[in-house]
Amino acid sequence: MPCKLLCLLILVTFVSQGYGCDRSNLTLKQSKTGNLYKDVTEWEVRLTNPCPCDFKNVKLSCTGFKPVIPIDKSVLSKSGNDCLLINGQSVGYKSDYVFRYVCATSFNFKILNATSACS
Ligand SMILES: *[C@@H]1O[C@H](CO)[C@@H](O)[C@H](O)[C@H]1NC(C)=O
Ligand SMILES: *[C@@H]1O[C@H](CO)[C@@H](O)[C@H](O)[C@H]1NC(C)=O
Repeated sequence: MPCKLLCLLILVTFVSQGYGCDRSNLTLKQSKTGNLYKDVTEWEVRLTNPCPCDFKNVKLSCTGFKPVIPIDKSVLSKSGNDCLLINGQSVGYKSDYVFRYVCATSFNFKILNATSACS
């Protein structure tokens, strides 16, 4: 028993150091929300941070991205071919950031860059 507990503690310590985590660990998933706006599909984008540390300045590729309803700049602000997520604020510790857009077809967002606080 004490050994198992110790091993668990060591594992937790190891994981909490964020070892082996960088922006390639971030994932993007898209799905239909099931809502329609004037017959146009609404999509949900979910950015998942599986790492025990924050990522900020997350940039997505958004060349040619033209949602039917403009997305609030505090969510996604476009500059050139890049879109900055939530004004560069952190996507926290083991959490998801979700935003929605309305477009006839899903847009193939890719993660271009993100600054990690993983040591
Ligand atoms: C991050 O990615 C690396 C390389 O694929 C993997 O070894 C590591 O377990 C991942 N970390 C998490 C927290 O998913
Ligand atoms: C990613 O962001 C960092 C810090 O903002 C910057 O130094 C680096 O050049 C960027 N990398 C790419 C590929 O844009």
